[in-house]
Amino acid sequence: MADLDPLFTAAKTAMEKAHAKYSDFPVGAAILTKDGRIFSGANIEIISFPEGWCAETTAISHFVMAGGGEITDICVIAEKKDICTPCGGCRQRLAEFAPAEAKVHLCTMEGIVQTVTMADLLPHGFESDVLAKTN
Ligand code: THU
Repeated sequence: MADLDPLFTAAKTAMEKAHAKYSDFPVGAAILTKDGRIFSGANIEIISFPEGWCAETTAISHFVMAGGGEITDICVIAEKKDICTPCGGCRQRLAEFAPAEAKVHLCTMEGIVQTVTMADLLPHGFESDVLAKTN
């Protein structure tokens, strides 16, 4: 998966910027769009931990603020845990912007070791015609 090297590197580099002083569990995430843009993020904790937010959420924020797009791939990495899957809240947040077929790549420090889809991660996620959705 050589073409995903930049996405993996972006997630790993983002993890180095984690502000995870309360859990000491740095996480990095990176989002790739169909037109080749990459948005990354790390978890950011505050003293009233567990307030704070996940790496995926930071990456989503950058994606949205840059105008969004079509998400094809997402990488998640945590140096203290091989295969760190997104938490429940982040699955729902990612599903807001990523299609069911988007690939989520789970990593060790060496690279991608497992690939699943958004549909795998969030079957029967909350959806509604009643609430307006922007994408
Ligand atoms: N964390 C993430 O950033 N992403 C995940 O998918 C799982 C958990 C963070 C939240 C918190 O800062 C730390 O990991 C420990 O739970």
